[in-house]
Amino acid sequence: MITNSAVSNIFVVTTYVVLFVISISTMFVHSLYQSKEYFPEERYALMQIRDSVSSTLDLHGNWTGPPCNKNSSQWTGIVCSNGHVIGLVLEGIQLTGSLPPAFLQNLTFLSNLSFRNNSIYGPLPNLSNLVHLESVLFSYNRFTGSIPSDYVELPNLKQLELQQNYLDGEIPPFDQPKLTVFNVSYNQLQGFIPNTDVLQMFSESSYDHNSNLCGIPLEPCPVPPPSPPVNPPQSKKRKLPTWIIVLIAVVATLIPFMIMFVFFYCYKKAQEEETPKERPAGNDDSPGWTDKKMQHSVSTEDPERRVDLQFFDKNIPVFDLDDLLRASANVLGKGNFGTTYKANLESGTVVAVKRVKYMNNLSKKEFLQQMQLLGKMRHENLVQIISFYYSKEEKLIVYEFVPDGSLFELLHVYDKVAKKCLSSDIFYLLVLENRGVGRIPLNWAARLSIIKDIAKGMAFLHQSLPSHKVPHANLKSSNVLIHRDRQSYHSKLTNYGFLPLLPSRKSSEKLAVGWSPEFCKRKKLTHKADVYCFGIILLEVITGKIPGETSPAGNDEKEDDLSDWVRMVVNNDWSTDILDVEILASREGHNEMLKLTDIALQCTDVAPEKRPKMSEVLRTIEEIDRTNHEND
Ligand SMILES: *[C@@H]1O[C@H](CO)[C@@H](O)[C@H](O)[C@H]1NC(C)=O
Ligand SMILES: *[C@@H]1O[C@H](CO)[C@@H](O)[C@H](O)[C@H]1NC(C)=O
Repeated sequence: MITNSAVSNIFVVTTYVVLFVISISTMFVHSLYQSKEYFPEERYALMQIRDSVSSTLDLHGNWTGPPCNKNSSQWTGIVCSNGHVIGLVLEGIQLTGSLPPAFLQNLTFLSNLSFRNNSIYGPLPNLSNLVHLESVLFSYNRFTGSIPSDYVELPNLKQLELQQNYLDGEIPPFDQPKLTVFNVSYNQLQGFIPNTDVLQMFSESSYDHNSNLCGIPLEPCPVPPPSPPVNPPQSKKRKLPTWIIVLIAVVATLIPFMIMFVFFYCYKKAQEEETPKERPAGNDDSPGWTDKKMQHSVSTEDPERRVDLQFFDKNIPVFDLDDLLRASANVLGKGNFGTTYKANLESGTVVAVKRVKYMNNLSKKEFLQQMQLLGKMRHENLVQIISFYYSKEEKLIVYEFVPDGSLFELLHVYDKVAKKCLSSDIFYLLVLENRGVGRIPLNWAARLSIIKDIAKGMAFLHQSLPSHKVPHANLKSSNVLIHRDRQSYHSKLTNYGFLPLLPSRKSSEKLAVGWSPEFCKRKKLTHKADVYCFGIILLEVITGKIPGETSPAGNDEKEDDLSDWVRMVVNNDWSTDILDVEILASREGHNEMLKLTDIALQCTDVAPEKRPKMSEVLRTIEEIDRTNHEND
């Protein structure tokens, strides 16, 4: 017989069993969600660094699969906990390259970060929001720029090692109580050491060997005679006379302007020297078009002035010459055939206006015919001609405005500026290493996309203008304009179709075809002259070198024949040695880069008939692009 107490016992036991099963299953379900093996955004962050640096370790071979497996990792240098990356330690493996901006943002659980003893250049990485960081070791590298001021906001920072880099600027006021290891020696820091309890705790050897640091624990700050004394930390209470404060304020406001001025001056100078033949011709233009307004450039007596501009595209808001002349304008660039302005019309429309030179003897009919032919063409990789204006003295071509500068600037401008401004050796090294402060390296995907666009535009031109001897005739990197669409780069060709407008061989010399071997040898020009120029651009994009510049040290002698440059760039045993350092690190692209180099060599063959057709080139490049995407 079953007693009452037995029944209640069974009931109690069943209840326990049920509760136990429920709790076990919730734990199980819970743990299913909790112990995710890794987090894709963290993996992506690590891929970014893997692809932007090179090293003696084969990170490409090793960093494959998931970075974390709960608490362990198969990846060299990665430490995981609960599926999150908490340590990134890559020391002494000759990591070379610059770190992608903000790549660490998604490693939110990172607590140890070390790139000690490598060759990383460029600015220090952004660490904002990485609140778990305890140890940050960047010593013995080639970092430049200043110490980001938000490093002082890392709440758990215990160790910060930045010694033996090329950092400049001042030390931000670190005051995290946990900070016990701190070293910024052997840099180019300056100014006084902030008067915080934490920073004053460290010994001299944490600050030694900087250009101009002062204050505790180093020497007190000197008082240079011309500029008023910087307030030393202890004498904070003493009041400065008002005139000194005013003087400080004035000097402090002027300095940035002076720096900007010097920079701008050098930039201008560099640009002018780019086009040395331009300068004498500069003044014989009709007076007027200043950088401010486009007014007065065309004589008011000109009867044709009243004639409205002709428009090719009904979708573009119509404006007349007066609108154009009233527009505020600034110089976009000076080319061999005139100056191009960016004109902001009062209606809000922005256009690019080119004032054409060397076409004075051209009849109105010839100009009109050519412009109408070119103006009708529509292609996403051609800069569209919106309108034009003809008078005897003045010829204008109004183009669509493309916002992001030219390929030439994208590839080299900082080189030029850096060279003109900073001749002292140390700066030369520092700046050229990274092609200048503030330069964003142009990665392989962007370069390939730009190249593909150029090839598309060229193939279209060749197909649309079969009767032209050389349809583009002026293909060079400064005539490839860039527009960026978030992360991706696109390009459009401009200044095409000028060859029929030019009166003489002498003036055609200034076109890019003037560099082709057949032009130099006074042989017949064909479409293949464009193909030659395309080959040169390919080499320029792959190698990052400026065509015609044989020595990087600034030997300004121009070669008449670019073929020598080609031979110099791609010597007999060409290999990955020729690649631009900025793309060298993306190893998975090497194959494609070398395939493109091969195309470039075919395109620059001295014999025009041996060069491929533009349509064939485009096909090959599209093929390469496809395999590149498959590799992603
Ligand atoms: C990466 O290298 C480490 C150390 O050499 C090794 O233990 C690990 O198995 C490698 N991982 C992969 C995915 O090859
Ligand atoms: C700081 O780094 C320098 C150079 O590596 C070293 O000589 C010095 O001892 C370090 N000082 C401290 C306090 O770690």
